[in-house]
Amino acid sequence: MRGFTISSPAVLALNCSLSGLESLAGTTIHVARPDYCLCCMMQLSTIPPEDGKELAVRALTLHELKAPLRLEERRPLEPSEGQAVVRLRAAALNRRDYWITQGMYPGIRMPVILGSDGAGIVAKTGVGVSPNWSAKEVIINPGWDWGDNAAAQSGNFRILGMPDDGTFADEVSIPTTCLHRKPAHLNWHESAALPLGGLTAYRAVFAQGQVKAGDNVLVTGIGGGVATFALQFAKATGANVFVTSSSPDKLERARDLRATAGYDYTADGWAKQLQSDHGPMNLIIDSAGGDGYACLIDLAAPGGRIVNYGATTGPPKKLDLFKVFWNQLHLIGTTMGSPDDFANMLAFINDHQIHPALDQVFPLAEGNAALDRMRDSMQFGKMVLQM
Ligand SMILES: NC(=O)c1ccc[n+]([C@@H]2O[C@H](COP(=O)([O-])OP(=O)(O)OC[C@H]3O[C@@H](n4cnc5c(N)ncnc54)[C@H](OP(=O)(O)O)[C@@H]3O)[C@@H](O)[C@H]2O)c1
Repeated sequence: MRGFTISSPAVLALNCSLSGLESLAGTTIHVARPDYCLCCMMQLSTIPPEDGKELAVRALTLHELKAPLRLEERRPLEPSEGQAVVRLRAAALNRRDYWITQGMYPGIRMPVILGSDGAGIVAKTGVGVSPNWSAKEVIINPGWDWGDNAAAQSGNFRILGMPDDGTFADEVSIPTTCLHRKPAHLNWHESAALPLGGLTAYRAVFAQGQVKAGDNVLVTGIGGGVATFALQFAKATGANVFVTSSSPDKLERARDLRATAGYDYTADGWAKQLQSDHGPMNLIIDSAGGDGYACLIDLAAPGGRIVNYGATTGPPKKLDLFKVFWNQLHLIGTTMGSPDDFANMLAFINDHQIHPALDQVFPLAEGNAALDRMRDSMQFGKMVLQM
């Protein structure tokens, strides 16, 4: 039998089997004083804390570049003014986390807890925070200080998980302006998978891509987390969505997400084949860049848009500007999204009851295995860490 010593009543709900943590079902929960579970109001048993200390917080921390993250225990967080401490139920990986471990990101500071995506329950609130947030089930918008310009983020914009400690931990402290109610139709893993990828895809497809029903849309590298959201969003709008991947298995999985057809971008002539099968593309959503970008210029319909949210394979070595101006193409960059984009993305996934495509769920302690899987591009959709 396992027992837990918990001193804060707000934490109790997190350990109730009725609130979804099936792995703890049947576990006896010991608390520091008589109390009730916040979700089922069941009275919990009482024992004194063994050492009078609060429960330690586990965190996966980057101490050294190109070395495994270390799992360590830290003191519980106290929220600053305007912030809340969220007891996380799950976090999710983004390629950004991997880039940081490799030193391929500006302004790296160490030690730092990585992780931009997370979902959990508000456990503590700081000064100036409405008590209404207490014990609420939330997801986190990982973009801070976007600023007032809808067209682009301010110079103060920063992303949770570097330089601020992120979500690969039992707890995170976050401004309440970044908190949103967890979508009711998503479980904890799906909720954690949503924020950064969903936000980036939403802005790419709608604010920048201006997708319309009936458009031909190409999403490249469909194994990627953002790419799977882009496919789902464009499809829900009524577009015909085509995808590319290096993996036949991933192309098959994309068909399960209602992609119209898929092409292997490692095969010669894939772009010509796509064009001959289905015509030119009104919108292309890409994060690969590199030499393959020339095919995207050829595939774009006159007046078409190519939206890039990344350049995984680096910049293109050459760019045929003659084709760009003659075909009146729009080459567009995009990064994450504004608070309005985040709220609109949540409304869209609620309206369309969209579930993020999940790859695998790893225990927090096995976060390095998840990063290795991302390094090798094995995943289809989002990888999740379970707390
Ligand atoms: N600007 C932003 O706000 C923002 C936000 C999120 C991500 N990003 C960037 O966008 C990229 C993807 O991020 P993610 O988190 O979605 O990563 P991810 O889940 O790791 O996706 C990476 C995918 O890229 C695809 N890929 C690799 N080489 C390719 C190529 N030559 N042509 C087409 N596709 C290729 C692979 O797809 P297959 O496995 O199907 O072959 C791979 O699975 C990263 O560079 C990331 O830094 C930027």
